[in-house]
Amino acid sequence: MKEKFEKILELALPYLKQGAKKDFVIHTQGVVKAMELLLEKEQGNEDILIPAAILHDVGWADVPVNLQKSDQREERLEGMKLHIECAPPIVEKVLLEAGYNESDIKRIIGIIVAHKFQENLIDAGKQLLVDADALSDAFSEQFYSDLKHYGNTPEEGYNYRKKSNQFYTKTGQEIFDKEMENRKKEFEVQ
Ligand SMILES: [Fe+2]
Ligand SMILES: [Fe+2]
Repeated sequence: MKEKFEKILELALPYLKQGAKKDFVIHTQGVVKAMELLLEKEQGNEDILIPAAILHDVGWADVPVNLQKSDQREERLEGMKLHIECAPPIVEKVLLEAGYNESDIKRIIGIIVAHKFQENLIDAGKQLLVDADALSDAFSEQFYSDLKHYGNTPEEGYNYRKKSNQFYTKTGQEIFDKEMENRKKEFEVQ
Protein backbone atom coordinates (compact mmCIF):
# COMPACT_ATOMS: atom_id res chain seq x y z
CA MET A 1 0.00 0.00 0.00
CA LYS A 2 1.25 3.50 -0.84
CA GLU A 3 2.63 5.56 2.00
CA LYS A 4 -0.15 8.15 1.90
CA PHE A 5 -2.76 5.38 2.16
CA GLU A 6 -0.85 3.82 5.07
CA LYS A 7 -1.13 7.16 6.84
CA ILE A 8 -4.92 7.23 6.32
CA LEU A 9 -5.24 3.68 7.61
CA GLU A 10 -3.19 4.54 10.67
CA LEU A 11 -5.51 7.50 11.40
CA ALA A 12 -8.59 5.33 10.78
CA LEU A 13 -7.57 2.45 13.07
CA PRO A 14 -8.75 3.96 16.38
CA TYR A 15 -12.23 4.46 14.89
CA LEU A 16 -12.33 1.02 13.29
CA LYS A 17 -11.39 -0.57 16.61
CA GLN A 18 -14.39 1.09 18.29
CA GLY A 19 -16.84 -0.69 15.99
CA ALA A 20 -18.36 -3.62 17.88
CA LYS A 21 -20.60 -5.38 15.38
CA LYS A 22 -17.66 -7.29 13.94
CA ASP A 23 -13.90 -6.94 13.48
CA PHE A 24 -13.78 -3.78 11.36
CA VAL A 25 -9.98 -3.79 11.13
CA ILE A 26 -10.00 -7.19 9.41
CA HIS A 27 -13.07 -6.19 7.38
CA THR A 28 -11.43 -2.95 6.21
CA GLN A 29 -8.21 -4.74 5.22
CA GLY A 30 -10.39 -7.02 3.09
CA VAL A 31 -12.25 -4.12 1.47
CA VAL A 32 -8.97 -2.39 0.60
CA LYS A 33 -7.58 -5.62 -0.86
CA ALA A 34 -10.83 -6.08 -2.82
CA MET A 35 -10.65 -2.50 -4.11
CA GLU A 36 -7.04 -3.04 -5.25
CA LEU A 37 -8.08 -6.19 -7.13
CA LEU A 38 -11.08 -4.44 -8.73
CA LEU A 39 -8.90 -1.54 -9.86
CA GLU A 40 -6.59 -3.93 -11.71
CA LYS A 41 -9.46 -4.58 -14.12
CA GLU A 42 -11.96 -1.72 -13.66
CA GLN A 43 -11.52 2.01 -14.34
CA GLY A 44 -11.27 4.15 -11.23
CA ASN A 45 -9.19 6.74 -9.40
CA GLU A 46 -7.26 5.00 -6.64
CA ASP A 47 -6.49 8.31 -4.89
CA ILE A 48 -10.23 8.58 -4.24
CA LEU A 49 -11.27 4.94 -4.01
CA ILE A 50 -8.58 3.52 -1.71
CA PRO A 51 -9.28 6.19 0.94
CA ALA A 52 -13.02 5.52 0.47
CA ALA A 53 -12.39 1.82 1.12
CA ILE A 54 -10.24 2.51 4.19
CA LEU A 55 -12.75 4.93 5.71
CA HIS A 56 -16.14 3.57 4.61
CA ASP A 57 -16.99 2.01 7.99
CA VAL A 58 -15.42 4.50 10.45
CA GLY A 59 -18.95 5.71 11.27
CA TRP A 60 -19.48 2.56 13.37
CA ALA A 61 -17.26 4.22 15.99
CA ASP A 62 -20.17 6.49 16.95
CA VAL A 63 -22.99 3.93 16.81
CA PRO A 64 -24.22 2.78 20.26
CA VAL A 65 -22.95 -0.76 20.91
CA ASN A 66 -26.41 -1.97 21.98
CA LEU A 67 -27.69 -1.17 18.47
CA GLN A 68 -24.71 -2.83 16.77
CA LYS A 69 -25.17 -6.05 18.72
CA SER A 70 -28.95 -6.03 19.12
CA ASP A 71 -30.95 -9.17 18.40
CA GLN A 72 -33.80 -6.93 17.19
CA ARG A 73 -33.87 -6.40 13.45
CA GLU A 74 -35.20 -2.82 13.80
CA GLU A 75 -32.37 -1.81 16.12
CA ARG A 76 -29.72 -3.34 13.88
CA LEU A 77 -31.22 -1.38 10.98
CA GLU A 78 -31.08 1.81 13.07
CA GLY A 79 -27.38 1.09 13.74
CA MET A 80 -26.79 0.53 10.03
CA LYS A 81 -28.36 3.92 9.22
CA LEU A 82 -26.32 5.63 11.92
CA HIS A 83 -23.00 4.27 10.65
CA ILE A 84 -23.66 6.14 7.41
CA GLU A 85 -24.83 9.33 9.16
CA CYS A 86 -21.88 9.36 11.55
CA ALA A 87 -19.22 8.86 8.88
CA PRO A 88 -18.80 12.31 7.23
CA PRO A 89 -17.29 14.29 10.14
CA ILE A 90 -14.85 11.48 10.96
CA VAL A 91 -13.86 11.02 7.32
CA GLU A 92 -13.32 14.75 6.93
CA LYS A 93 -11.17 14.97 10.06
CA VAL A 94 -8.96 12.04 9.02
CA LEU A 95 -8.53 13.22 5.43
CA LEU A 96 -7.71 16.81 6.42
CA GLU A 97 -5.06 15.43 8.73
CA ALA A 98 -3.74 13.29 5.88
CA GLY A 99 -3.44 16.38 3.67
CA TYR A 100 -6.39 15.85 1.33
CA ASN A 101 -8.09 18.89 -0.24
CA GLU A 102 -11.75 19.83 0.25
CA SER A 103 -12.90 18.77 -3.20
CA ASP A 104 -11.37 15.26 -2.93
CA ILE A 105 -12.77 14.94 0.61
CA LYS A 106 -16.22 15.82 -0.71
CA ARG A 107 -15.97 13.16 -3.42
CA ILE A 108 -14.78 10.51 -0.99
CA ILE A 109 -17.59 11.30 1.47
CA GLY A 110 -20.12 11.17 -1.37
CA ILE A 111 -18.94 7.66 -2.24
CA ILE A 112 -18.88 6.49 1.37
CA VAL A 113 -22.42 7.63 2.23
CA ALA A 114 -23.73 5.73 -0.81
CA HIS A 115 -22.42 2.30 0.26
CA LYS A 116 -25.71 1.29 1.96
CA PHE A 117 -29.43 1.96 1.36
CA GLN A 118 -28.93 2.95 -2.28
CA GLU A 119 -30.03 0.93 -5.25
CA ASN A 120 -29.15 1.17 -8.92
CA LEU A 121 -26.11 3.36 -8.39
CA ILE A 122 -24.87 5.01 -11.60
CA ASP A 123 -21.58 6.46 -10.41
CA ALA A 124 -18.75 4.01 -11.15
CA GLY A 125 -16.81 4.93 -8.00
CA LYS A 126 -19.85 4.30 -5.80
CA GLN A 127 -20.42 0.99 -7.55
CA LEU A 128 -16.82 -0.06 -6.92
CA LEU A 129 -17.06 0.61 -3.17
CA VAL A 130 -20.27 -1.45 -2.92
CA ASP A 131 -18.52 -4.25 -4.83
CA ALA A 132 -15.34 -4.09 -2.74
CA ASP A 133 -17.44 -4.19 0.47
CA ALA A 134 -19.34 -7.27 -0.75
CA LEU A 135 -16.27 -8.99 -2.20
CA SER A 136 -14.25 -8.75 1.00
CA ASP A 137 -16.77 -11.05 2.78
CA ALA A 138 -15.59 -13.94 0.60
CA PHE A 139 -11.88 -13.73 1.41
CA SER A 140 -10.63 -16.41 3.80
CA GLU A 141 -9.63 -14.22 6.76
CA GLN A 142 -12.77 -12.07 6.53
CA PHE A 143 -15.11 -15.01 5.98
CA TYR A 144 -13.91 -16.88 9.08
CA SER A 145 -13.76 -13.71 11.19
CA ASP A 146 -17.43 -13.01 10.39
CA LEU A 147 -18.46 -16.57 11.27
CA LYS A 148 -16.92 -16.14 14.70
CA HIS A 149 -18.67 -12.80 15.30
CA TYR A 150 -22.09 -13.89 14.06
CA GLY A 151 -21.89 -17.43 15.48
CA ASN A 152 -22.55 -19.14 12.15
CA THR A 153 -21.27 -22.40 10.70
CA PRO A 154 -19.19 -22.18 7.49
CA GLU A 155 -22.11 -23.60 5.53
CA GLU A 156 -24.55 -21.01 6.94
CA GLY A 157 -22.09 -18.22 6.18
CA TYR A 158 -21.58 -19.56 2.69
CA ASN A 159 -25.32 -19.81 1.92
CA TYR A 160 -26.02 -16.36 3.33
CA ARG A 161 -23.26 -14.65 1.35
CA LYS A 162 -24.12 -16.51 -1.84
CA LYS A 163 -27.70 -15.30 -1.53
CA SER A 164 -27.20 -11.72 -0.43
CA ASN A 165 -23.91 -10.42 -1.85
CA GLN A 166 -24.53 -8.70 -5.18
CA PHE A 167 -22.19 -7.00 -7.62
CA TYR A 168 -22.25 -4.20 -10.17
CA THR A 169 -19.06 -5.29 -11.93
CA LYS A 170 -18.28 -8.55 -13.68
CA THR A 171 -14.83 -8.45 -12.08
CA GLY A 172 -16.34 -8.33 -8.60
CA GLN A 173 -18.74 -11.18 -9.31
CA GLU A 174 -16.01 -13.36 -10.82
CA ILE A 175 -13.54 -12.96 -7.95
CA PHE A 176 -16.37 -13.49 -5.45
CA ASP A 177 -17.50 -16.72 -7.14
CA LYS A 178 -13.95 -18.06 -7.21
CA GLU A 179 -13.33 -17.22 -3.56
CA MET A 180 -16.67 -18.72 -2.50
CA GLU A 181 -15.84 -21.94 -4.35
CA ASN A 182 -12.71 -22.14 -2.19
CA ARG A 183 -14.70 -21.54 1.02
CA LYS A 184 -17.12 -24.29 -0.02
CA LYS A 185 -14.31 -26.76 -0.63
CA GLU A 186 -12.98 -25.98 2.83
CA PHE A 187 -16.17 -27.02 4.63
CA GLU A 188 -16.94 -29.89 2.29
CA VAL A 189 -13.69 -31.72 3.09
CA GLN A 190 -14.40 -31.60 6.83
FE1 LIG B 1 -20.72 -0.17 6.06
FE1 LIG C 1 -18.06 -2.45 5.15
